Amino acid sequence: MSGGFSKVPFELPLQAGLVPRLLITITGTVNSNPNRFSLDFKRGNDIAFHFNPRFKEDNRKVIVCNSMFQNNWGKEERTAPRFPFEAGKPFKLQILCEGDHFKVAVNDAHLLQYSFREKKLNEITKLCIAGDITLTSVVPTMI
Ligand code: GAL
Repeated sequence: MSGGFSKVPFELPLQAGLVPRLLITITGTVNSNPNRFSLDFKRGNDIAFHFNPRFKEDNRKVIVCNSMFQNNWGKEERTAPRFPFEAGKPFKLQILCEGDHFKVAVNDAHLLQYSFREKKLNEITKLCIAGDITLTSVVPTMI
């Protein structure tokens, strides 16, 4: 998806599912007065990887990563060393699928890794993007 702006929620089908070396590049702009947005890599109803920046959780900014299996959320990972998103500002978010984790970079700087909990990569066939952002482009490529 590119050329023009797209409202969220947005869904990108991933034809053959995830595979190591698949890079997904998302560009967009954070809305004004944002609360949260999220990326969800889904295997059916399960969420293999939920990446969720929260702008006002108890007046703090935090990135929450998690998985959901059979409608149950697992243990949250909140170890991102910084919060690179700002209200009203454009961003580039890159998610690289590696051998045993997702690697996330924002604006060309590494942010965090998330170890695979769901191992059936080829069955993770959807990326859903939702929340308080406007999308400019969502581009999957093999590197
Ligand atoms: C819940 C929230 C979900 C998801 C989850 C992640 O509290 O309602 O949308 O972000 O946390 O652990």
